[in-house]
Amino acid sequence: MTLAEKIGQLHQAPRENDIDPEVIKSGSLGSVICSTSAYAGNETQLRVRAGRINELQRLAVEGSRLGIPLLIARDVIHGHRTVAPIPLGQSASWSPEHIQACAEAAAMEAYADGIRWVFTPMLDVARDARWGRIAEGMGEDPYLCGVLAKAAVKGYQGDNLSAVGKVAACAKHFVGYGAAEGGRDYNTTEITPNTLRNIYLPSFKAAVEAGVATIMSSFNEIGGVPVTGSKYLLDKVLRDDWNFEGVIISDWGAVLEMVEHGFALDKREAARIAINAGLDIDMAAEAYLEWLEDLVAKGEVSTDRLDAAVLRVLNLKFKLGLFENPYTDETHADKVQFTAEKKAATLELTRRSLVLLRNEDEVLPLKKDLKKIGLFGPMIDSRSELLGTWCLDGLPEDVITIEEGIRAQLGSDQELITAKLTDEAVNLARFCDVAIVVVGEHPHRSGEANSITTLDLPPGQTEFLKYVQRIGVPVVVVILAARPISISPDLHGIDAFLVGWHPGSMGGQAIAEALFGVFNPSGKLTVTFPRSVGQVPIYYNHKATGRPLDENKIGLTRYVDDRDAPLYPFGFGLSYAAYEYGATSVASSGDGFEVKATVKNVSSVDGEEIVQLYIRDRHASMTRPVRELKGFQRVSLPAGSAQEVVFHLSRADLGFYGSDETWIVEPGIFQFWIAPDSISGQMAEATLAG
Ligand code: GLC
Repeated sequence: MTLAEKIGQLHQAPRENDIDPEVIKSGSLGSVICSTSAYAGNETQLRVRAGRINELQRLAVEGSRLGIPLLIARDVIHGHRTVAPIPLGQSASWSPEHIQACAEAAAMEAYADGIRWVFTPMLDVARDARWGRIAEGMGEDPYLCGVLAKAAVKGYQGDNLSAVGKVAACAKHFVGYGAAEGGRDYNTTEITPNTLRNIYLPSFKAAVEAGVATIMSSFNEIGGVPVTGSKYLLDKVLRDDWNFEGVIISDWGAVLEMVEHGFALDKREAARIAINAGLDIDMAAEAYLEWLEDLVAKGEVSTDRLDAAVLRVLNLKFKLGLFENPYTDETHADKVQFTAEKKAATLELTRRSLVLLRNEDEVLPLKKDLKKIGLFGPMIDSRSELLGTWCLDGLPEDVITIEEGIRAQLGSDQELITAKLTDEAVNLARFCDVAIVVVGEHPHRSGEANSITTLDLPPGQTEFLKYVQRIGVPVVVVILAARPISISPDLHGIDAFLVGWHPGSMGGQAIAEALFGVFNPSGKLTVTFPRSVGQVPIYYNHKATGRPLDENKIGLTRYVDDRDAPLYPFGFGLSYAAYEYGATSVASSGDGFEVKATVKNVSSVDGEEIVQLYIRDRHASMTRPVRELKGFQRVSLPAGSAQEVVFHLSRADLGFYGSDETWIVEPGIFQFWIAPDSISGQMAEATLAG
């Protein structure tokens, strides 16, 4: 390979429909991101079609000197043609198996369009719901993010990257992107090494352990160093500490953004810093394309460093089988996209993503004797809005609306009364036996570059609900949102709240089925719902401080103008069944502990309960959170049944990253909870011997 051909492999260009064929034939392009926008899902994109991808591929394979195939990438964030709930919604299922199944479906559909590399899963732990990209992640807990990361990577990549229907995944955005100050996207992050190791890195480590093929560096800086130019994070943490041998790609233009950060004088220096920090591919900045030849010629970048990066890119192409099979069967997409099987898999995940936050007087599930059912609000027949913040190939016409879903559930003697205008809705609500009100956000209020300063419902919706509430009929609120919503105290008298997130293609059906009891909701929050934005950042695995929170005492870490507790805590979610948790018991087992509790379904409704295991390291060489999720089990509990739920924790499971940033386990007192959420459960204590 010539120097120019090597550098070409490290250059990724966007806009697959505008690429100059000569650039490909000269060997100056290694990969393509199929996107016309630097702003993620904010702009409608042309669908990717295999025919166009094959054209590009022929230019590379048959038109260039070495015939190295292109690697075609796309942001397939939560489904491709069959759109799953936004990842934050998916995470509320706490179901690795269903998340893996939908990732498998998305990979098959994307593969059929010629895509071999998807920029997902997003593994940024997020503790600030003002940040629009909280929608794309798996919530606030590092352990849960890690478990779900493994499932997603397995779904996209399978066990053989060269198999039909498998694609390279990309763990992003490495790292700490969700800690943006003020919840403002791209903003500065201040993360201590202890928090970095124990909160923000673990989900990426899990993805690396799962064999993720690629990692994307994030836009943010940490403590004065942009991640894209951080030798510590890319070379030391990823390569040396974790032995990651895959490809590291920058986020869109992030190499050049180091000039704006004030970390590089110009594009040339940005290229030098990035390649010497360990970044393999420059996405869309053309910094490598323009300057690497000069930097190598002047000895500022070693040929060893360059060759190592090129080798990783070629190795990925070999693993994907691109040299043997660079082209895509153009008849494949129609056979594998939006099939009954993929819709069924997506429906199963969507059902489990729904979270029931409130259900007074068992207003849900809707009873069969209700004659007039009101369905009100601006989104009752929305299609594209249900698809969420980022689905480039999902089709609004594929979406089942909430109205369509509910009509499919109506009994022959039940009437649906609908209104989208608030005044008409308030007028008609009085004639209904129950009012279902759909409120929430437009997807463009979340996602990339879309951060907000309030967690209230969008303008006018709280007032709308207050008026409906005054009518006096039972009110069921369905919230379509990409983030936690601070439900106003004025609305706390409303009978039921169901969080639907942005639920994807099957959303209307899943929501209607939940409302009518076709299935029993089991979703649990993976992010804390604050009372107000004033509490942010608020998260369950916080530190105790020297004056631990006690809402009934003065002089402690508390607010004087509102309660301190969240509106709904991490791990919370109701069911149509009712569960009672017995005492937690702990006993030594192997080099760690066995933790048990009996969970009983004391209702007449069958259900599935996500039973959670939390620990607290009571005293250690560095302070530890008041609770840490260390396990969970989805337990099927028929009506009236009980089950002893058992968890095993090894000694290593009880460790943390200490002051020297290595994993350490310290003897001492540990506390354990088997609980339905992060603030409940009966505690048991045990001492880990030295
Ligand atoms: C965007 C996003 C990233 C995405 C990439 C390509 O700016 O930050 O998540 O994968 O650029 O679209």
